[in-house]
Amino acid sequence: MSYETIFDQSFERVKKIFKNKQSFFDAFYGNFINASPEVAKLFGNTGMAHQAKMMEKSFYGLFVFYATQNANDYLEKIAFQHSFHNLDIKPELFDLWLENLIKTVEDFDPQCSDEVTLSWRVVLSPGITYMKHKYSR
Ligand code: HEM
Repeated sequence: MSYETIFDQSFERVKKIFKNKQSFFDAFYGNFINASPEVAKLFGNTGMAHQAKMMEKSFYGLFVFYATQNANDYLEKIAFQHSFHNLDIKPELFDLWLENLIKTVEDFDPQCSDEVTLSWRVVLSPGITYMKHKYSR
């Protein structure tokens, strides 16, 4: 089975699961914010429900970058918004983002395995590299 298929199947599983009334995306944001005071400060008073919804939508942009090696308009806009011109999200925070995402997959996917977590890294890393690359551009 390809990494893309393993990722797709895991993604479908985690989206359906709620733990302590939290969706996968809610829990991911909770984990990410708790991981670093810098991240907590950057999010300030952002409504988590809104943020979790936007996150779900932006996943598609990361996936498209992996599949086509091109940023769609949405990912390009998000990258510019996170760059030093706007939100000023330092590139290393994207690694923390990915590590917390993987941690959340481990918590939510009942069929999680090394292959599953590797598939998330394989599929999302190109888009994250793009976001980091755009930081200073
Ligand atoms: C590939 C990784 C990431 C993706 C796909 C992503 C996606 C998004 C999206 C879709 C939004 C909402 C934009 C809008 O309101 O139109 C957003 C906002 C934001 N993101 Fe990210 N993000 C990523 C990584 C990060 C990281 C590493 C940080 C570091 C703390 C971060 C901090 C923020 C902040 C502070 C906002 C603004 C929240 C607000 O509106 O108050 N993001 N992000």
